[in-house]
Amino acid sequence: MPILKSYGEIEALYTAVATLFVQICHDAISAKGKVSIALSGGSTPEGLHRLLASEEYASQIKWDRVFIFWGDERCVPADSDKNNSYAARQQLLKHVPIPTENIFPVPTFLPPAKAAEEYEKAIIKHFGDSAPAFDLLLLGMGSDGHTASLFPGTSILAETKRFVSEVYVEKLQMDRVSFTLPLIEQARQIVFIVTGEGKASMVEKVLDPKEDTEEVPAMLIHDREYNPVLWFTDVAAVSKLHV
Ligand code: 6PG
Repeated sequence: MPILKSYGEIEALYTAVATLFVQICHDAISAKGKVSIALSGGSTPEGLHRLLASEEYASQIKWDRVFIFWGDERCVPADSDKNNSYAARQQLLKHVPIPTENIFPVPTFLPPAKAAEEYEKAIIKHFGDSAPAFDLLLLGMGSDGHTASLFPGTSILAETKRFVSEVYVEKLQMDRVSFTLPLIEQARQIVFIVTGEGKASMVEKVLDPKEDTEEVPAMLIHDREYNPVLWFTDVAAVSKLHV
């Protein structure tokens, strides 16, 4: 069972995740000299980004040892406010002393398939001879149960070999590039951040599935003995969960 941590105040949620972020950075850098992190997209992470950019948290992190990727990206220009790496730069990365060469945005200037291919190459190169296992992989979830750009009914869900794939999301009429399940599941620590009443039904479905519950992508992120998947939510997002 994933570990669920719910908070009445959104700032307390972001503080808890920021504290974990700092701890994971410290542990990985102490052990390996670097920490590899995949940020999630959408609007939920903004509060976390801004807290990590604050002196209190930024000063605790050796940013020159931090390597940042994104679990998924919209195939829009790098300077679009819909671009996940653009948002993270504005909210966090431009406010901390992380070397530009440590930041790996999806090359959305390329066609989706080529961007996915190049991104996978960059990830494999980054991890060298080791298996590509992010020390921290942040995920959000949509009210339809999608996570990263693993949307219900899309071909990427069936990908078992590639680590990164392009995917056309019909309902959004948008091309995306996303980590696949094989890459997500290799991460050392997977953390979902999900907030809001609008997601409460899906949170209940994913965290307390019934016999006949229709499987949604977020349910495919299987739990593991070591480093259980962590879910950080506000009380609104778990208001339909009766555990
Ligand atoms: C994206 C995401 C996506 C996001 C969820 C939740 O690019 O949109 O990576 O998986 O995490 O859609 O988005 P919100 O945080 O905006 O609700």
